[in-house]
Amino acid sequence: MKNLVVFASGYGSNFQAIIDAVESGKIKASIRGLIANQPGIGAIKRADKHHIPVCVLNPRDFSESHEYAGAMLQQLLDWKPDLIALAGYLLKVPENVVNAFEGKIINIHPSLLPKYSGKGYYGLYVHQAVLDNGDMETGCTVHVVDNIYDNGPILAQVRVPVFEGDKAVDISERVRKKELEIYPGVIASMINKTEE
Ligand code: GRF
Repeated sequence: MKNLVVFASGYGSNFQAIIDAVESGKIKASIRGLIANQPGIGAIKRADKHHIPVCVLNPRDFSESHEYAGAMLQQLLDWKPDLIALAGYLLKVPENVVNAFEGKIINIHPSLLPKYSGKGYYGLYVHQAVLDNGDMETGCTVHVVDNIYDNGPILAQVRVPVFEGDKAVDISERVRKKELEIYPGVIASMINKTEE
């Protein structure tokens, strides 16, 4: 059985879609754990409900950044992930972790990357930028994580129309619906490639 680890910072709807896909057998893996950057978030409640171990790692709780990065790496080495899925994780993954799991960390971003990527482009800010620029379409992208925000090779991208009169929240809902479809699909295709 393959091991999957999820990182999240918020509500966790993508995390829930991954849990559902694991429980239905679509993703042939065990979710070894959730890494969260703060306590009390929706994603942790979902993990608790499904008996998934949680590790909260907040860089502010460490006096040195290398101690934080080391603690994260240690936890991951213990969980032995074959794939790490960032699901609404707002912090940059430390370089030592990206390097240790090169090509095995993926992320979902609510835009047609490379558009609206990088620091500050998260949540409704992304969709507001789409509106401000008068774009007629947007979407979501699954990509491999490297050491630059929202930058690595693109694995899947889905387009979503923008309609006259849309507000950022309308676009967010339309994009989210697609995210919940494509992310478990991409994870399944990566995880199910070879059985162990
Ligand atoms: C999603 O829109 C995802 O693309 C982005 O953060 C959001 C997370 O939402 N990276 P949720 O916590 O999965 O509900």
